[in-house]
Amino acid sequence: MSDPFYVTTPIYYVNDVPHIGHAYTTVAADVAARYHRLRGDPTYFLTGTDEHGQKVERAAREHGKDPQAWTDAMIPSWRSVWTNLDIAYDDFIRTTEERHETPVKAFVKNLYERGEIYEGVYEGPYCVACEQFYLESELVDGRCPVHGIPVERLKETNYFFRQSAHADWLLNDYYARTPMPVRPEARLNEVIGLVRQGLQDVSVSRPSLEWGIPLPWEPSHVIYVWIEALQNYITALGYPAGALFRTFWPAVHFVGKDILRFHAVTWPAMLHAAGEEPPREVFAHGWLLVRGEKMSKTKLTGIHPDELLATFGVDAYRYYFMREIAFGQDGSFSWESMVARYNADLANGLGNLASRVLTMIVSYFDGVVPDPGPDAGQGSLERAVAAALPGYRQGMESFAFHEALEAAFGIVREANGFIVTTAPWNLAKDPAQRAKLGTVLWASAEALRAMAVLLSPVMPRACGTLWEQLGIAEPLRAVRLDAAAWGGLKPGTRVSKGDALFPRVTELA
Ligand code: MSP
Repeated sequence: MSDPFYVTTPIYYVNDVPHIGHAYTTVAADVAARYHRLRGDPTYFLTGTDEHGQKVERAAREHGKDPQAWTDAMIPSWRSVWTNLDIAYDDFIRTTEERHETPVKAFVKNLYERGEIYEGVYEGPYCVACEQFYLESELVDGRCPVHGIPVERLKETNYFFRQSAHADWLLNDYYARTPMPVRPEARLNEVIGLVRQGLQDVSVSRPSLEWGIPLPWEPSHVIYVWIEALQNYITALGYPAGALFRTFWPAVHFVGKDILRFHAVTWPAMLHAAGEEPPREVFAHGWLLVRGEKMSKTKLTGIHPDELLATFGVDAYRYYFMREIAFGQDGSFSWESMVARYNADLANGLGNLASRVLTMIVSYFDGVVPDPGPDAGQGSLERAVAAALPGYRQGMESFAFHEALEAAFGIVREANGFIVTTAPWNLAKDPAQRAKLGTVLWASAEALRAMAVLLSPVMPRACGTLWEQLGIAEPLRAVRLDAAAWGGLKPGTRVSKGDALFPRVTELA
């Protein structure tokens, strides 16, 4: 039995509509989930929305709405962006749901009863855009280090979680684990450095705010939004008693590097304090930069995914972000690089290969997949497929999606070379070469079949179309990864040419 795989995205604040930065994390998590389903692993993929806190409350008030009405009104734009991006989540949690609020209260009360929470006074800066307390030393020119906007000054009674009491456990046990609980490695070192410098306790409640979950023993406070939001990862599984929790916890959390500390320090410490297992892994990816800066709504550089989907389509959208940027590093988004990547890899690469091979099977064999006949040098193609697999798996399993894709595209390069070398259009002129022509086209179509399997987590729709064009009866979604092994294409089935998978786009589209 293979290991269960549970992957989560951060839950997104509903103060505004999504942009491509949010979609970046969600697409990556969807790719990981689809890959694990392809492997046959029991898989669970959670996303959702973070609906409490001052930021959401203020957005609601600015629009003259009550926060609950506002969040309800925002949900369709979040659900539809995921539909448009072919995101196949298993669950979508909203933090205003009763199934979240009730176990959150119980969790916090349990920590209180265990002596992990005490009353104190917080005095210092707070960034509402991050919903985060900062140390003076962390500010940049007196401003929020992430958003570059002025911070607010707070002095208020808070309940605090004794995060500092868990520093030894974090350093000597959790971070020392193999496999690494925080990746990439540079991020693990950053977190270790931070904890070594000395951990502060963290606020778990805010007084005199209305929009939040009341603190069970002090209802004039609401639970600090981050403390409740983190718990979505377990409340969605029916924590504490739910069968999903028992099956799938602990999770792999995909997060942006700006929220690493909450996930890699506070969250495992909270779980440890409650006697629960910490996350299996926190993977921090970089930022999408636009003109060298973190793209954000605050800075008016936010781009909505739909703006790109209209030109490139969903498969190319997903492919571009997974291929162009090393997952874990910052990466620049630009229209020009998207056009270039699209045309090189998809229109001229995979799309052109598929169209050539299918067209030739239609013209030379009436659309029926030929028998592999005598040797036509197809061993090189078979070897290319075998050679792509380890790099592909390794990349997918370590969330180095760009490496997995690069490995898979080795097959396209080899297949294009194979077609040029064997020149089927010349073989077709000579009836004595008919059997060899069959081998060339069978092998080229077989390479396409392997590509459809390997790329299906990243480009589910286009791969499904390619699969149907190849005339394979079993639906692609029923196929497992081992189907990518050489030799599975049955002669005698009927292919169809259909529309181009990736029509070329021009720079100015
Ligand atoms: N609500 C919190 C998360 C709570 S998780 C228990 C939150 N929400 S957010 O909507 O502000 O951001 C969600 C995610 O989007 C973060 O991982 C953040 O890094 C990511 N991104 C926001 N802008 C981004 C880019 N420009 N580039 C890449 N990711 C970015 O934080």
